[in-house]
Order: sequence, then C-alpha cells, then structure tokens
Amino acid sequence: MPHAVPAASPLSARRANPLSGRFRVPGDRSISHRALMFGAMASGRTSIEGLLEGDGILATGNAMQALGARVERRGDSWLVDGLGVGGFLEPAAPLDFGNAGTGVRLAMGLVGIYPFATRFVGSAALSARPMNLVLDSLRSIGVAVLEEDDGRLPITLRGPRTPLPIHHRLPTASAQVKSAMLLAGLLIPGTTTIIEPVLTRDHTEKMLASFGAEIEITTAADGVSTIAVQGLPNLKAQHVIVPGDPSSAAFPLVAALIVPGSDVIIENVLMNPTRTGLIDTLLEMGGDIQFLNQRHSGGEDIADLRVRSSRLKGVRVAADHAPSMIDDYPALAIAAAFAEGETVMEGLGELRVRESDLLAAVAKGLALNGVDCSEGPDSLTVRGTGKVAGGGMVQTRLDHRVAMSFLVMGMASQLPVSVDDHTMIEPSFPNFVTGMSSVGAQFDTPESR
Ligand code: S3P
Repeated sequence: MPHAVPAASPLSARRANPLSGRFRVPGDRSISHRALMFGAMASGRTSIEGLLEGDGILATGNAMQALGARVERRGDSWLVDGLGVGGFLEPAAPLDFGNAGTGVRLAMGLVGIYPFATRFVGSAALSARPMNLVLDSLRSIGVAVLEEDDGRLPITLRGPRTPLPIHHRLPTASAQVKSAMLLAGLLIPGTTTIIEPVLTRDHTEKMLASFGAEIEITTAADGVSTIAVQGLPNLKAQHVIVPGDPSSAAFPLVAALIVPGSDVIIENVLMNPTRTGLIDTLLEMGGDIQFLNQRHSGGEDIADLRVRSSRLKGVRVAADHAPSMIDDYPALAIAAAFAEGETVMEGLGELRVRESDLLAAVAKGLALNGVDCSEGPDSLTVRGTGKVAGGGMVQTRLDHRVAMSFLVMGMASQLPVSVDDHTMIEPSFPNFVTGMSSVGAQFDTPESR
C-alpha cells in the first residue's frame, strides 16, 4: 500500500528570550525498537514504559504482531506477549517498516534467519536506502536473498534449514549490522561470535544480557571487541524503562547553549558512553553542561542535564567520534555556527545515505543563513564568528533532524529561520514544538506572522 504523504507545513523560529525551565525528551529510538523486538522474542509478558511512539517504532510493533506476538498499549505502558526464541510464525503479508531504517535492518537479522520466506517493504524514502551491508553479512551465514532491488527494498529473505554458528567480523562500524547478526545468532545452536573493530552503540548486547541471554564481551588493547552469545537462549520477559533519547536531547541542549542567558534542565537522558559523543564535543567546545541526579536503570546510565548558555569555540571532531554521534552532526553544526573559530567534522560519509543526503542538506542550510562553511565528500567545515544572520528558508528534504536543527538556529540568529516543512518532526519528537515553547522558544507559522 502506498504511504500517504501529509501536506508540507512550514514553520519559523525567531530569536528567543533566555530559555529556562525543565524539559523531558521522548524515549530513545534505538532502545524502543529493541524493546519491542526483545519482548516479542521472550517468553511471557514484557511491559515497556517510556516507549517512543513514533511511526517507525509502531511499524516495528506491527511487524512483531504479524510474526505472532501480541503488542498492545495499556495506559502509559506497552505490553508485549512474546513467543520465545524460535517461536515466530510465517507472516501472512510483507512486513512494512515505514520509514524506519533501524527497524528493518534489525528485523532482517531477527526474522531473515527463519527457514521461511519473509518480504520486507517500506516507504519510498526507506526503499531508496542501501541495505547491502546487512544483506552481505546475512548471505555470509547462509541466508538466501530471494528478492532485492540493487540492495534496496523490497527484499525477501529465507534462512537456511540448518544454520551453522556464526563467526563474523563486521566490515564496518554499524550497530545495525552488528545487531542484525546477533539477533540472527539467537536462532542458531552454539556460540555466535561477532568481532567489532570499532565500538558502536551496544544496546542490543545490554538488553540481551538483561533478558537472560548468555553473552560475553571482551575488548582487546587495540579496541577490537569480541562478542560471544549462546544460541537458543531462554529469554524471559522484562519490565523495560526506556530512557530519554540523547539524539533528541541534542536540540534543546544546543538551543540552551546558544540562546544567551538560558538555563535549562533536560531530564532523564540516556548517558550510554556509545551515545554521548555530542555531549563530549560540546563540553570540549566550552559548553556549560552539568550532570545531575546520575543513576543506573535497566543496564543503562541516565542523568538530568543542566545546560547554561556558553561562549563556544570551534574544535576538530575526528572521524573516530562518528559512531557515538552520527545522528547528532546536524545539531552540532548549529552549535559550530555560533562558536568562534573553525569546527571540522570528519567521517560523515554515512550521512549521505540517510533518508536523504543529510550532509548536503545541512551545508546548504548553513550557507543559506549566512554561515561560512564548506562540504567535503565526507566532511563539513564550519567557520563560526559567534553570531548567525539567519533569514533563510531551509529545505528539510523530509528530514526531522534538519528541521529541528535549523529551528534551533532561528532561536538565536539575528533574523528568524524557517523550514519548508515540520510535519516529520512529530513522529520522532512528539513534544518538540510544545516543549521548546514551554521553555521560551518562539515559533511562527506563515498564518501567525
Ligand atoms: C542505530 C544505529 C546507528 C544510528 C541509527 C540507529 C541503531 O546506525 O545511526 O539511527 O539503533 O542500531 P549504524 O548502523 O550506522 O551504526
């Protein structure tokens, strides 16, 4: 079925008074997808609190239902009645992941290993994104790719009748590929070993352990990790509390740093070290960020962030930072535009194969608002002067991160900044406009101006 495209709705942000107050960001996207998948694979009833209720996550929930699990919202929680490892049923229709790259890539490992044919489909934007890395890894363990369109959706997979234990070295730093292989390994008797040359987000490993799988991770002196997981584990239902998404916190965080006089507390943010690259970089740039109420829940570190406006300076962000902040460069580029001096961001090639070419979209938006910047094949250099002219109408190309980043820019630039559409923000960050308004941001629609 074709996906309906809602009409574009422009929005502007204008220079705000100091931002102040408390802000709670939505649940972490990566953990939300995994909570539904793990719940579906465990035996018993998993309850999930704080799930991100975006379209992409709900598509993962629907896919789990199509495989035989029961997924339902009750009050503020989501309940998943799982089937146990190996219990998925052959789906009667293709699994539709909408816009969710993470959902479909993880599911290709989770379900593609079953000895029946599963067809994976998605929106037009998702169908334009390359899936080769996951496909190549799955082929290497005997999964048959029955249908693909030059590495793109629709894709049909069928797992081998007798899968053999996996010993796989990841060809590239990708948490999605790592997770797909670990999830496939759950259905294979014996020990699955994944070698990860560069550390990426480790939520799959942490959740596997908390659901009762036997998993062992060793890291050598050169940083190469070996992850060993035992197949056919008895996963037991859990109560999962999803912490706030640091990649969503990025927007109020950068806003509070660049709007003069601001003092904001962002509550309940996931502090997993594989996800805090942006915060580490902003601290290095001179950002005043304090970590309050630090705690540990569901295997993850969490804190409230107190953020006060700061004079930022440009820094060099080496390519090895990319895995811990890949989704956060658009927000960092805005901070860099308000910093004094040059910020060089390297290792951004992955941003070119998102829903759209994110690197090009960000560079164009910066230039349009008077920011001196240059774009390399996989890098972005921003020469900040401490202030930004603004006044541009930014093409978001349907990307929520671009939309939120440039609205944040408008909160501190001399002239308002507009985005051509903001309808795609809602599924990823449902309370962005209301939450930012409640701490003092000023938005205008074309009608309200
Ligand atoms: C994700 C992994 C990252 C990230 C994506 C979510 C995940 O991609 O960019 O938004 O939940 O595993 P990689 O597979 O490139 O690491």
